[in-house]
Amino acid sequence: MPKLSDRVGTFTDSVIRRMTRISNQYGAINLSQGFPDFDPPKEMLDALAKIAYNGPHQYAITFGAKNLREALCAKQSRAIGRTLDPENEIVITCGGTESMMCAMMTICNPGDKVMVFSPFYENYGADAILSGAEPIYIPLVPPEYNFDLSLIEKGFREGARAIIICNPSNPCGKVFTREELTAIGELAVKYDGFVVTDEVYEHIVFDPYKHVYASGLPGMFNNTITCNSLSKTFSITGWRLGYLIGPADVVDAARKVHDFLTVGAAAPLQEAAVTGLNLPESYYADLKALYTKKRDYFISGLDRIGLKHNVPQGTYFVMVDIQEFLDLPQFKGWTDLAFCEWMIKNVGVAAVPGSSFFREPVNNLIRLHFARQESTLDESLRRLGKLNELVKR
Ligand SMILES: Cc1ncc(COP(=O)(O)O)c(C=O)c1O
Repeated sequence: MPKLSDRVGTFTDSVIRRMTRISNQYGAINLSQGFPDFDPPKEMLDALAKIAYNGPHQYAITFGAKNLREALCAKQSRAIGRTLDPENEIVITCGGTESMMCAMMTICNPGDKVMVFSPFYENYGADAILSGAEPIYIPLVPPEYNFDLSLIEKGFREGARAIIICNPSNPCGKVFTREELTAIGELAVKYDGFVVTDEVYEHIVFDPYKHVYASGLPGMFNNTITCNSLSKTFSITGWRLGYLIGPADVVDAARKVHDFLTVGAAAPLQEAAVTGLNLPESYYADLKALYTKKRDYFISGLDRIGLKHNVPQGTYFVMVDIQEFLDLPQFKGWTDLAFCEWMIKNVGVAAVPGSSFFREPVNNLIRLHFARQESTLDESLRRLGKLNELVKR
């Protein structure tokens, strides 16, 4: 067998997506990989049905269909209070996943350092490696998931190119405050680095928390690259539509990376997405209300069962503490990964082992998501209740 690149030996396949495969194999309820089991807005589906016959079916412009760029720039301009130029400040990508990869390849040289909060969305580690960069991890310390700003200053002072901020944060549900983002932004400006934000859960933020757009903070636009996606906002994770917004010079370079990586996102789906972006503002309020209800429903169910968990400020993820199970003789010495595999086979619910999100040796947390219909959440809670049989309460 001829040799493969060294690069591919330095990271594993995605643990999240691996858990989905095992879950499917055993017919478990998949609360591991975060995607909804309900339909996208009907208006988008109707539009897609028409597009199936009327097109477009050929390549869109590589950096995104004009009407989609215009619709996204109009939305983001309202959010950040700055008029964005759809001709120069946005590129449509194949999901938020490509957008982050594209950002990293645009700003990093091999050997460059990039700061990543831990816990982190697992893609960032691989994104850094694939772009030749080296991640430096900044701990977010539970239970508040606070961080030490001086570590970020040290990172920038020692030459880090950027810091990646997942806001709201998958997996811990933290919503960064204006003060936190301003402080990080000031350091990025001071040391001539970038803030790369992943805002795919911007509309899944629970009261009283508010999403703050880093690119909209005073003086921050030129140092911020915003990676985002339509996957979660419109329940279309399979459409693979995302975008990157930033200053024109960054976007110009990112468009080249994007062009040679993928040429472009699917043209018919870009067209149908415009319909979603033309929905009234109330759509976003309804989405927030929907997920608020699901969060409250699910975590009160976890409380009834007696499972310990965090209360997310945003996203549709909750971290459950499994330490009391790992302390039982039958699980002595088990990893969280082994516990999750056991849960799929014996409880019928798939979760993601927390260790895949942490740089630190954390083994006692698993991540569940609640982007499911109430009936599925009920059945999941019923199954999770079986864990009760393992411990005397
Ligand atoms: C924080 C975060 N960023 C990016 C993505 C990927 O988004 P997309 O499906 O648009 O590629 C996800 C998906 O779960 C995510 O949780």
